[in-house]
Amino acid sequence: MTTAKKTSFRLSAQIRYGDNIAFARSMDQQDTLATYRSEFFIPKAKNGDECVYLCGNSLGLQPIKARQYIEQELSDWASLGVEGHWNARHPWLPYHENLTGMAARLVGARPVEVVIMNTLTTNLHLMMVSFYRPTQKRFKIIVEANAFPSDQYAVASQARFHGFDPQKAIIELKPREGESTIATEDIVETINEHGKEIALVMLGNVNYLTGQAFHVQEIAKAAHAKGANFGLNLAHGAGNLFLKLHDWDVDFAVWCGYKYLNAGPGALAGCFVHEKHSRKFDLPRFAGWWGHNKETRFEMPAQFDALPGAEGWQLSNPPIFQLAALRASMELFDQATMPALWQKSKLLTGYLEFLLDKLPEGFVTIITPRNPDERGCQLSLKISGDGKELVKQLSEAGVICDFREPDIMRVAPTPLYNTFEDVYKFAKVLDQFAQRWVTVG
Ligand SMILES: Cc1ncc(COP(=O)(O)O)c(C=O)c1O
Repeated sequence: MTTAKKTSFRLSAQIRYGDNIAFARSMDQQDTLATYRSEFFIPKAKNGDECVYLCGNSLGLQPIKARQYIEQELSDWASLGVEGHWNARHPWLPYHENLTGMAARLVGARPVEVVIMNTLTTNLHLMMVSFYRPTQKRFKIIVEANAFPSDQYAVASQARFHGFDPQKAIIELKPREGESTIATEDIVETINEHGKEIALVMLGNVNYLTGQAFHVQEIAKAAHAKGANFGLNLAHGAGNLFLKLHDWDVDFAVWCGYKYLNAGPGALAGCFVHEKHSRKFDLPRFAGWWGHNKETRFEMPAQFDALPGAEGWQLSNPPIFQLAALRASMELFDQATMPALWQKSKLLTGYLEFLLDKLPEGFVTIITPRNPDERGCQLSLKISGDGKELVKQLSEAGVICDFREPDIMRVAPTPLYNTFEDVYKFAKVLDQFAQRWVTVG
C-alpha cells in the first residue's frame, strides 16, 4: 500500500473561467493534483515539445514506474525461476491481490467484489454466462443503440448461444428524434414496457461515442423492480467517473486497463460482482483453476470449488508483467483518490466546454450532455466537414485526440495528467483550424 498524498483541489466549482493562458496557468498552479503529470511519459510532438495529449479515453499514457515494476518481475524471474511464485519480492501466486484494494476503491466496491483478470470482452462474456440466464418468457437484453461494436457482438452472440434470435432478444435504447443522448426516463420507460421479458439491462457507462454517463442507480432500480439483472461496461468509466458500484446495487461490471487506467495496450481488465452474489456458488459460470479455492488449488482436486466473490470467476493464472504495469498506475489513482480527481475533472472539462463554446459557430457541436453529472472528462464533438482529416492534421500539430465514425471527435482531458494549459492550447489550435475550415467552407 502506498501512502496517501494531500489531494484536495483548492478551487471552487463555481469558477469563472478566463479565455487566456494566464488564467489556465493560474488554475494549474492551484491544482494540488498537478504533480501527478510528472509520473507519466508525455509523448513529444515533431518540434520536440510535449504533445497536447487528450486521448486517455483511448489509450492512457505510460506511468514512469511501469518499466521499473515490470523489470522487477523480469529480474525475479531471471534469478528465481519458478520459485518466484513464492519468493519474488511481490510473489506471483497472490500478485493480483496487490491490486484488489485499489481496484475496489477505484470503482466504489468492497474488496470481495473485484478482481483484475483477462481482457474486457472476455470478462463481459464470463459475466453474461452467469447474469444472462434467459428463459422462454424472460430473454430480452436492453442495450444502447450505439454501443461499442464488441459489446454488440458479445450480446448478440450470447442471445444466439441460448437459441434466441438477437433481432427479438435485443432491445436498443435510442435517443429521441434530433437528440444525441438517451433520456433516463426513456430508459426507465423501456424497462417498464418490456417488464418481465427482460433478463438483463447492460449499459456502457460512459457511452464510448457520445460521452454520456447514465444515472446508474435509478436505472439499476428500475431493472431490479422488473426482476432483471443490471450490468455495466465501464471501459470509459473506470478511472474517469466517481463510481459507487456497491451502493448503486449494480450486479456486475467490467472495465479495461488501457484507457484511463494507463496500463498499456491490451492491458488486463477488471471485473466487479456485487457482494450479494458472492456466495451464490450454484450460479452457472465458466470455471478455471484460478477461480478455485486457494487452500486446495494445488491439491489438484477434480471437483471445482469456487472462491467467494469476483475471484471465483477467474480462469487462468494472470500475466504478471501486465499486472505490474497496471499496479504502477493504480497506485497513482489510489494516492490521488477518485473524489479529488472527479472534482478536478469537472473543472477541467468545464473549461474545455467554455472554450469550445467560443469557437466560430457551426464548426463543432458538443453532443455530450452539458450537465457535469451526466458525463465524465470526455467531450464528443460533431464536426462539420472532414473530421477524420481534422484529427489527422491536429496530430501533425502535436494535438492528440481521436475520431470515431461517422463524424465524432472525442476529446478527453484526464485529471491525472492533463493541465488547464493543455485544454487552453487545444482550444487555440482548434480555433486556428476553425478559421481555415470556415474560410475553405
Ligand atoms: C465500450 C467498449 N467495449 C468493449 C471494448 C473492447 O475491449 P477489449 O478489446 O479489451 O475486449 C472497448 C474498447 O475500446 C470499448 O471501448
